[in-house]
Amino acid sequence: MKSEIPHEFDLCSLEELQIKKSISFQFDHPVYGKNEIALFWDGQNIGALDNYCPHQGAMLTHGLIEPGEIICPLHSAVFDLKTGECLDKYTWDTVSYQVRIENNRVLIIVPDQTLIH
Ligand code: FES
Repeated sequence: MKSEIPHEFDLCSLEELQIKKSISFQFDHPVYGKNEIALFWDGQNIGALDNYCPHQGAMLTHGLIEPGEIICPLHSAVFDLKTGECLDKYTWDTVSYQVRIENNRVLIIVPDQTLIH
């Protein structure tokens, strides 16, 4: 699917995300290099966060998904699904991305990066 909004990427179907609960995708930034962004489904809402925890880099896709929250698998920092805020202040906030659903596809806005896979 082609979008008219720059830097918007069609990542997967809503059904695939609802089945898998979390899926990560690799992006490439022209200055900072490769980056991984994860989509999460908490049963009601979708969130998109940098996949690597800002504390010590654990993959959030290996963490727990609670309503509105993602819990890091390594030291249990709690991140807001929508904003990336570290709700328990264990570590820094992480980066969140804007997502939307169109025709049952999950689209994400990622400025300045290209999707690798
Ligand atoms: S690596 Fe995520 S809380 Fe430590």
